[in-house]
Amino acid sequence: MKEFKDKVIWITGASSGIGEALALQFAKLEARVILSARREDELKRVGELTKLAPLDLMILPFDLNNTNNASAFTAQIINKFGRIDILINNGGYSQRGNAMETSLEIDRHIMEVNYFSHVNITKAVLPYMKLQKSGHIVVISSIAGKFGFYLRSSYSAAKHALHGFFESLRLETESLGIKTLIVCPGKINTNVSVNAVTANGAAHNKMDESHAKAMSAEDCAKKIIAGILSKKEEVFIGGKEIALVKIKRFFPSLFSKLIRKQNPY
Ligand SMILES: NC(=O)c1ccc[n+]([C@@H]2O[C@H](COP(=O)([O-])OP(=O)(O)OC[C@H]3O[C@@H](n4cnc5c(N)ncnc54)[C@H](OP(=O)(O)O)[C@@H]3O)[C@@H](O)[C@H]2O)c1
Repeated sequence: MKEFKDKVIWITGASSGIGEALALQFAKLEARVILSARREDELKRVGELTKLAPLDLMILPFDLNNTNNASAFTAQIINKFGRIDILINNGGYSQRGNAMETSLEIDRHIMEVNYFSHVNITKAVLPYMKLQKSGHIVVISSIAGKFGFYLRSSYSAAKHALHGFFESLRLETESLGIKTLIVCPGKINTNVSVNAVTANGAAHNKMDESHAKAMSAEDCAKKIIAGILSKKEEVFIGGKEIALVKIKRFFPSLFSKLIRKQNPY
């Protein structure tokens, strides 16, 4: 597959899970990658695993809770690589907290990291894609972006918000040569449940059973790459849980019964 050779790909949330798997696969496909997340040591570990030469790799650590420097980061990438072909807005974290017990401060933090950061980084990158007359914006939503779920109120809200923003953006920018893919994973075997925030702000710190048994991050990354290649607008990735999206659309009363029987963990 030569489609990604020398393509410049910026991945947020690249220090673990789906982002790490994407970085490793794009490196195999001879892309040039920029890896972002908070933990610089973990980004360097992933960078080493890619076996990319320093010329083809950039480690760009920052916290998605503060993307005021998004334009400066983008300029840094442009200075080194001259362009950005694909932006993958992947970084984020989940929730395992009851809405009534969760403070508005936590709700706002979830929205900042899982929604506004992606909007801000995308806005910083778009002018360059417009100049290039090409580009691919990818955003990792969730099936929780299609329906609400126990203990996920703000996480689900942030993921729903991504659909409103990026579906509108797609319409506004496709004439500029810019494509937008929204990815909706179901359950993927990563640390997403371990890193999820509980109502009191502490980490959930447990690998949920449903994630332990789920599709690997590598398989998920391969399906995301297939979605980019085939210029899909939206892809659903996971096990049988993704059927709930279609059930909600076509059989809403059945969905209403089924969703109440799902285990939040
Ligand atoms: N796994 C699933 O079942 C599943 C399902 C649906 C959607 N998703 C979505 O997939 C994406 C990736 O999650 P994952 O499953 O790969 O989980 P993960 O292994 O926990 O990875 C999350 C990534 O996001 C980064 N991140 C988290 N908070 C950040 C912050 N404040 N600033 C910068 N980076 C931050 C983490 O890096 P640092 O800790 O180093 O900052 C890490 O690289 C997320 O958007 C998640 O909502 C996952």
